[in-house]
Amino acid sequence: MCVVGARPNFMKMAPLMAAFRDPAEPFECTLVHTGQHYDVAMSDVFFGQLGMQAPDIQLGIGPGSHGAQTGRMMAALEAVVAERQPDLVVVVGDVNSTLAAALVAAKAGVPVAHVEAGLRSFDRRMPEEINRVVTDALATFLFATEEDGVANLRREGVGDDRIFLVGNVMIDTLTALLPRIRDRAMAAEMGLAPGGYGVVTLHRPSNVDETAMLEAWVVALERIGSGLPLVFPAHPRTAARLADAGLDRRLAASGVRVVEPLPYVEFISLVADSRLVLTDSGGIQEETTVLGIPCLTLRDSTERPVTVMVGTNRLVGVEPEAAVEAVEGVLSGPRAPYAVPPLWDGKAAERIARVLRGARWQAYLTDPAALSGARAGPPEN
Ligand code: UD1
Repeated sequence: MCVVGARPNFMKMAPLMAAFRDPAEPFECTLVHTGQHYDVAMSDVFFGQLGMQAPDIQLGIGPGSHGAQTGRMMAALEAVVAERQPDLVVVVGDVNSTLAAALVAAKAGVPVAHVEAGLRSFDRRMPEEINRVVTDALATFLFATEEDGVANLRREGVGDDRIFLVGNVMIDTLTALLPRIRDRAMAAEMGLAPGGYGVVTLHRPSNVDETAMLEAWVVALERIGSGLPLVFPAHPRTAARLADAGLDRRLAASGVRVVEPLPYVEFISLVADSRLVLTDSGGIQEETTVLGIPCLTLRDSTERPVTVMVGTNRLVGVEPEAAVEAVEGVLSGPRAPYAVPPLWDGKAAERIARVLRGARWQAYLTDPAALSGARAGPPEN
């Protein structure tokens, strides 16, 4: 049973579904959508583009506080797990749907596979960090995207027999769709010169929920936008906050183009032809790394340090003034060299399917004791 719920889940699950349903050796798969994201632009549009079949089960949970949303998801997922009796629950990423599914499966005695395991920002003020830590603590199979993820899991006491460094399924999707992305030419469609504009995304509660902070970002974007055209596909939460504070009109007056959330191919096409990206997203740090586009991350920490080590990502922090300076630095300096992290090669989902088809998986199925036995014990004094 594969569980998705929010926008960043879809591009991660699509290649997994394809690998699991490989006609040569298919798994019997059920795709469950919690309904955490429900707008067409945040959910439905991705299924068609990513070639992923519609969910078998749509739980329609929708918005709510973290407790209310996660609780409703758990109650609904518990019934589905009881009815379908899956042998394995596969979750991706770090959203509330990921956490809810991992908790329900673990309590029902069903092994959990967590794809994108081990990432840590070491900042528990981020709801995603709590989701990552708990999901990894409950998972049987931990599939890591990068070496840092492996090191974090080892430090938390996860045995090496559970950890699999397989690469990045999000990059599987990007690699597979790159020809379509290149053909899409969104910049031209929007009247933007390739290499001559910036893309902005902001949606972390810490950046957009408080009006003073949001306004500081708007001021910074106005300044940056006076020298570099900016396109800002706004997440619904950000669009609502901008409208509530009357800041949407101010951005529009300054020439910053606030647009609806874009479908996958359109968004990546826009990023691929941009001069730079300003973002607080996790996944975009990875996508810009592979595309070689300078990424200025508007956060104090990143759970994806490899994107800073080898890639094009730079942690700018949450001071708008620092972002303005960082943009000036990118625009005035030469393009920095970059590399793509190991195993970010478009084949991560295949590797995961191979592991799950392999001997360990059989052992877990036939010997439930192996579930607890494989976890490393407490450290010896
Ligand atoms: C969630 C994830 C975040 C991820 C982001 C990507 C968690 C804790 N957070 O944050 O890690 O980066 O998705 O988009 O799971 N809304 C709509 N329509 C939608 C979806 C959301 O209007 O289709 C609005 C609702 O008012 C909702 C708000 O956005 O209350 C926030 O949605 P929610 O799912 O709680 O969290 P995100 O901010 O989207």
